[in-house]
Amino acid sequence: MPGELAKKMTSVCQVVDDGWPEAWYMVPDEDVDDQKRENRFTPNEPVNVKEMKALGLNYWAMDAVNYKYPIKAVPWDPKEATDPRVAALRDNLGYSYADVMTIHPDLLPGYETKIKAFFKEHIHDAEEIRYIIAGSGFFDVRDPLDRWIRIHVKKGDLMTLPEGIYHRYTCDEMEYIHRMRMSIGVPCWNPINRYGTEEDTDGHESRKKYVCKYCVPFLKEQDRFEAAAGEEEKAATDEENEKDVVDDEPAKKQQHIEG
Ligand SMILES: [Fe+2]
Repeated sequence: MPGELAKKMTSVCQVVDDGWPEAWYMVPDEDVDDQKRENRFTPNEPVNVKEMKALGLNYWAMDAVNYKYPIKAVPWDPKEATDPRVAALRDNLGYSYADVMTIHPDLLPGYETKIKAFFKEHIHDAEEIRYIIAGSGFFDVRDPLDRWIRIHVKKGDLMTLPEGIYHRYTCDEMEYIHRMRMSIGVPCWNPINRYGTEEDTDGHESRKKYVCKYCVPFLKEQDRFEAAAGEEEKAATDEENEKDVVDDEPAKKQQHIEG
C-alpha cells in the first residue's frame, strides 16, 4: 500500500496490530470431525499478526455498531455507504461493487449444502474482501508449508485475502454470520477449487503470483533461520568440546608428574 494511502487508511480505518482476529494452526483435516469447532492443537499453536501479514493478509477494524446494513442485498451499491470507514475503503481502494448476505440456517436457503461448499479449499483470481457486520466465523488459509491456519473473524472485522492464497470458510458453532464482500469492478466470485476438478490450481497464474510474492520469501527466511540455528548449535558443541579439553589438562599434567 503506498505511503499516503496507508496514512489515510490508518486515520480513518484504524489499522492496528492489536485488534487483529485470533489465529492458530489447526489440526489436519483427517482429525476434523466438525468444521465449525475451533480444531486447535493441544497445546494451542498461536499465529501472530506478523505471521499473518507475511501471508499477505490485511485487517481493518470497522464500526459495526453504529452503521447498519440490509440482511441481504445482492448487489449492494458501495455508493450508499454512510459509514466513513466503508466509504474510505470504497474511495481509496476503488471498491465499486459489493453484496451483503446473512449465513444462518433460517436465512440462507440450502444452508448445509452451501456451508459445505464454502469449506472447499480454493483460490480466486482476485483479492477476497470480507467485512463481518455481525456474527462470526472462521477463515482457514494455508501457510507456505501447506499447514492450515484458522482465523476467527467476528463482528467489526474486515479482512482481505490476497489473490492466489489457498483458503476456505466456515461458520463457527454460532451458525450466524452477516457479511459484506466487496470488489473492484464487477466480480467473478466463483471459487477455483484445489481438489475435485481437473483444474491445475498449482499451475494457475494467480497461484504462481502468490507463490513468488509470499511463499518464496517465507521459505528463504525459514532456510536462513534453520541455517543460523545449525550454526549456533555447532558453535555450542565446539565450545563444549574445547571446555572438555581444558578440563582434562590438569589431570593429564598430574599423570605426567606421577609417571
Ligand atoms: Fe474464497
